Amino acid sequence: MSTTRILETVSRLRCISCAAIPDSAGQDFRCAACGDLMEFFFPGWTSGSSPFDPAALKSLWQNRRTSRENLDQSGVWRFRELLPHIPNLAEHAITLGEGNTPLYRLPRCARAAGVENLLAKHQGMNPTASFKDTGMTFAASSAHQGKFRWVACASTGNTSASMAAYAARGNMHSLVLIPEGQISWGKLSQALDYGALTCQLRTDFDGCVQILNELVRQKPVYLLNSVNPYRIEGQKTAAIELMEQLAWEPPDHIIVPGGNLGNSSAIGKALVEMRELKLISRLPKLSIIQAQGANPFYRCVHDFGGKKLEPMTADTLATAIRIGNPASWKKALRVLQATGGEVEQVTEIEIAIAKAEIGADGIGCEPASAVTLAGLKKLRRSGFVKPGEAVVLILTGHILKDPDFTIKFHRGDLFAGTPDETDAAQAKSLQRAPVVLDANLGAVIAALEAAERNFSTILML
Ligand code: F0G
Repeated sequence: MSTTRILETVSRLRCISCAAIPDSAGQDFRCAACGDLMEFFFPGWTSGSSPFDPAALKSLWQNRRTSRENLDQSGVWRFRELLPHIPNLAEHAITLGEGNTPLYRLPRCARAAGVENLLAKHQGMNPTASFKDTGMTFAASSAHQGKFRWVACASTGNTSASMAAYAARGNMHSLVLIPEGQISWGKLSQALDYGALTCQLRTDFDGCVQILNELVRQKPVYLLNSVNPYRIEGQKTAAIELMEQLAWEPPDHIIVPGGNLGNSSAIGKALVEMRELKLISRLPKLSIIQAQGANPFYRCVHDFGGKKLEPMTADTLATAIRIGNPASWKKALRVLQATGGEVEQVTEIEIAIAKAEIGADGIGCEPASAVTLAGLKKLRRSGFVKPGEAVVLILTGHILKDPDFTIKFHRGDLFAGTPDETDAAQAKSLQRAPVVLDANLGAVIAALEAAERNFSTILML
């Protein structure tokens, strides 16, 4: 089987609304006819007769795990047969060894949620510590192939960190537009270290997107937000890798956070394609969780029957998903319908508690990732998830992305002065504030003994 030949012939861009198939994409990656988003599709895969032998593909990918080739060592490029073709790949691929992220069992969180079989795929274990790297390696390589000097994105922090790193590796300049005062220092510091031109705009994420869209129409900069369909293709590989880790036996549920809705669209697209190609035999239900203060997609589905998305002013301490006008909502809606998933919303306190519970399993994640566990608890209570069903949470960012949130939570300051202040008492048993002691042995032993007395509370988690 010559997979290379297949790659070079099958991928095309198509508008998700009017189905126009242009020869190439414009600078804003929107349909020239109707303005909606574009996606890649693979004409040869939908005819009912797959061009691939599923067993041969699985064994090819497995063998690449021991290969010394740069591209084979990436958990994205290892699956390149399912990605669109980039001409002269060897010359243009920019990789930092992304993907290959661990799948962890979460026993304490499983007890807290009331399920027996709970796993987390930790996309925060990527080179820049978020899931963005899987899409960025692919889209940045496409920018390099297009000979762009500048790449740009609007971001709540993680996209900018990732883009800046991949641009630096590919000798391209990067322009970052971030909302002033609304992203964590960890993420901002990454963009600076990787050499981006970082503009903190006095607006929110949605305001940054608007300015960026106008900019790419006037200047030859390559847009690296998730409206770029190459980003979505790269991010598909998280789902492919997950299925491989599960020996191609799909779980019953996959749960992801929802912000701009690129990631849910990508994972859902991969699941549908894998079933089409007979790599898996059934689809897991893909559910999307939003913060209650940034819930335009939740309202789209529950209040408007998926017919329209009403933009809102978003507000949540999970700054990564403080997004009021998600670009990919139609794509996300489609995968929700294809897989039979749900959309839930969770409160600030539910997010904070879930984050501490994931931490207590020795894993940790950033606040936006923790909405998955908080959402699972709600889906369990509503009966959508059954106790015996297998669930995988997608953790999108590393715990060290936002240490401020974690420290404030454990000190009991996170909700001070907010309407949640009184309800925050629920989280007390999870808080582990640092204790300041005199430098003497007796004080340390007293602290140890006091902690031992509280141990039963910890075990009850
Ligand atoms: N989790 C984290 C840690 C994120 O950074 C994001 C998005 C999401 C979840 C939501 O993913 O947008 O694909 O639905 N962060 C973007 C950024 C918007 O600019 O870093 P989504």
